[in-house]
Amino acid sequence: MSSLLISQPKYSWLKELGLSEDNHGVYNGTWGGSGEVDNCMVFFVVLKATMAEYEETIQKSREAWKVWAEVSRVPAPKRGEIVRQIGDALRKKIKVLGSLVSLEMGKIYVEGVGEVQEYVDVCDYAVGLSRMIGGPILPSERPGHALIEQWNPVGLVGIITAFNFPVAVYGWNNAIALICGNVCLWKGAPTTPLTSVAVTKIVAEVLEQNNLPGAICSMTCGGADIGTAMAKDERVDLLSFTGSTHVGKMVAMMVQERFGRQLLELGGNNAIIVFEDADLNLVVPSAVFASVGTAGQRCTTTRRLMLHESVHDTVVERVAKAYKQVRIGDPWDPSTLYGPLHTKQAVEQYLAAIEKAKQQGGTLICGGKVMDRAGNYVEPTIITGLPHDASIVQTETFVPILYVLKFKTEDEAFAWNNEVKQGLSSSIFTKDMGRVFRWLGPKGSDCGIVNVNIPTSGAEIGGAFGGEKHTGGGRESGSDSWKQYMRRSTCTINYSKDLPLAQGIKFE
Ligand code: UN1
Repeated sequence: MSSLLISQPKYSWLKELGLSEDNHGVYNGTWGGSGEVDNCMVFFVVLKATMAEYEETIQKSREAWKVWAEVSRVPAPKRGEIVRQIGDALRKKIKVLGSLVSLEMGKIYVEGVGEVQEYVDVCDYAVGLSRMIGGPILPSERPGHALIEQWNPVGLVGIITAFNFPVAVYGWNNAIALICGNVCLWKGAPTTPLTSVAVTKIVAEVLEQNNLPGAICSMTCGGADIGTAMAKDERVDLLSFTGSTHVGKMVAMMVQERFGRQLLELGGNNAIIVFEDADLNLVVPSAVFASVGTAGQRCTTTRRLMLHESVHDTVVERVAKAYKQVRIGDPWDPSTLYGPLHTKQAVEQYLAAIEKAKQQGGTLICGGKVMDRAGNYVEPTIITGLPHDASIVQTETFVPILYVLKFKTEDEAFAWNNEVKQGLSSSIFTKDMGRVFRWLGPKGSDCGIVNVNIPTSGAEIGGAFGGEKHTGGGRESGSDSWKQYMRRSTCTINYSKDLPLAQGIKFE
């Protein structure tokens, strides 16, 4: 009997996603992949792209763009219709795809389904957008002239995504990029290739059924070799990269070197600030969800919990008590709230961070150990007593460790929120309306996501998602993020018989 997981009855549902024992890790209208075998799941085989297959895929994607951007054939609302069908196809597979995410990434089942839901939601959003995007007609100072802003697709959008959201982040980019008239080339995380293959199969079927080139949504599984090629490739008009600040910086330099466009979604070091007037019944579940959810592996995870000195001890006690009740187990079990870390390397990072925190003066309130069970399970951890500027507190470690800091004043808390390099998400808990508006204002949070009385994680797709400083400055998903996927032309059209110059200049 084959040792591959898919051959076992327990995992036969994977066939519903079109997966088999050997999976091709390249799609550009046809399936291929003859590179290295990727079997990080031990029981599966995914054949990665070779550089020659990457080259072929880029060429086919650019060919496909000629069709996709041909407005006489595929006007924007028609592109929206295709995206609507993609959303519908995902809806039909939402549970089975969510299960695969859980199996491959290790997040709990409801979170796996939740991120497929995000892709479905952003498809719905993009359908509406396909009839709304456009620029203004501006008043021209010159008689008989029209001043028009025209938005065109950039062309080929490269999308590199991280292991922690192997579906949603591609979805945000893909749905919006498509309605804007771009084609996409996706490289998912090297450790979640099956999810990339399964998602691409769903999308490809929609394109093929509509007699459109499959290369409109290409995919190449691979590692740093493919990522580097995409970053350096002048034919990739926009590179959307989600991942660590460390890798993001290298990607950014390569893209900038060729004056390419980039959209970066990098690290976060997100804080919840709890003031003396906060509703603690909101604070406790928020802190637990945002720090323990997805086993601390969201870029929006709460890593710093800043507590006003008057509520510090009470909140620490209540949050620690709630931590002990978090049901740890198999991510597939519907009652589980907390699963394993994605990799062994993350377990090592967890242990190293705890050691550093202790050296820097931290006290372990709960957790701190690797769990004695199969898989990369570690105890969700709370550490108090560290100075706000301790180097470990200022470092994003992508694991479930929460540093609790004690503060005295609003100024101090806001300053600590902003003193880290990253600027992704932030939350305050208060009933003071003046404070709420100071928090939203110029001297408040410097993050891209600024919340009040809700956790730092769990953003909706309708808003623009992203952050400042070392988070990279990109914005994805809702609001006017679509502008990142298009280029703007300022067009002046003279419909008179005269040639008046701007600024009243006479040149005669
Ligand atoms: C990420 O962690 O990479 O706000 C994205 C959230 C999710 C997205 C997180 N909607 O937690």
